[in-house]
Amino acid sequence: MKQLCIALVCIAMLPYYSSCSNQSNVPGLHGSDVVKLSADSAKSLFAVDCAVCHMDNGQSRAPGLIHLGGMTPKSIFASLESGSMQLQGETLSKQQKVAIAELLTMRPFVENNQHLNYCESRNLKLSKVKYSGWGGNPEGTGFIEPDIAQLTADQVPNLKLKWAFGFEGGTVSRTKPTIIDNFLIFGSQFGEVYCLDMSTGCVQWMYEADANVRGGIAVSEDIDNQLIIYFADFGGNVYALKANDGKPIWKTSVKTEPNNAVTGTVTYFDGLLYVPSDIHGSDNRRTRKL
Ligand code: HEC
Repeated sequence: MKQLCIALVCIAMLPYYSSCSNQSNVPGLHGSDVVKLSADSAKSLFAVDCAVCHMDNGQSRAPGLIHLGGMTPKSIFASLESGSMQLQGETLSKQQKVAIAELLTMRPFVENNQHLNYCESRNLKLSKVKYSGWGGNPEGTGFIEPDIAQLTADQVPNLKLKWAFGFEGGTVSRTKPTIIDNFLIFGSQFGEVYCLDMSTGCVQWMYEADANVRGGIAVSEDIDNQLIIYFADFGGNVYALKANDGKPIWKTSVKTEPNNAVTGTVTYFDGLLYVPSDIHGSDNRRTRKL
């Protein structure tokens, strides 16, 4: 009982995403007559059904609030509906799962991203990598050759805004864009990875990872000379996607501890992908090879 009381006090401190609409976006639930649960109901549900493991400082190997908050509402919902938390989600309705997912992430649960400004032509054949990973090259110098940058130092004070891209609901951006041909590829606070046209800012493709992407994007070529991009998310998942269309090739997890997170940038070298991983909130860091 003492544990539950402590959990309730902590959950009362969880912020609430106040602009969630009453319109349902839950798969299989349609229409404005489906009223969403209040944040208070979600807090009570979390306290009763989840807190015993998720707020026990890792004793049950369950990720803490900082990790759950880094996931997308969709991936929390999917975990409760059909993933590793299916058993714990068994007694919850779809609305209850959505309410918990929105509470933990402070984001509305949105089914699709049709509102994105997609490019008219979306048939990429990317070839020349100009800047990738955290430092731009395997040596990590962060330097872009002038012929690629097409910019001199004395031009910098006179730059004018060409276009702007907003991360909906975003407050922070931590990934550096990888540049291939005339396109930027970068991750976001909410797990979306975007490929944007540098001339117009329109979206070529968008891939939804399970949790926020903080590191940069590494690139390699496969045997057909197609470019492959690699990145990791905060939940310890590592992804390989086709650079041309963002379609997934594989996804794996480097998680060995409940609070494992990847906040650094993966590096591709000579057929191996190097993935930095840390136990978030401690000094225990390590790098794994895949
Ligand atoms: C009996 C303990 C326990 C309870 C109760 C519990 N969880 Fe978990 N949860 C865990 C553990 C352990 C993991 C880590 C599982 C893993 O890494 O495979 C986890 C993982 C998760 C994840 C991450 C899953 C993923 O795919 O990465 C989410 C989201 C989650 N729990 C949500 C919830 C919610 C919401 C509730 C309440 C409805 C809940 N859990 C109740 C123990 C629990």
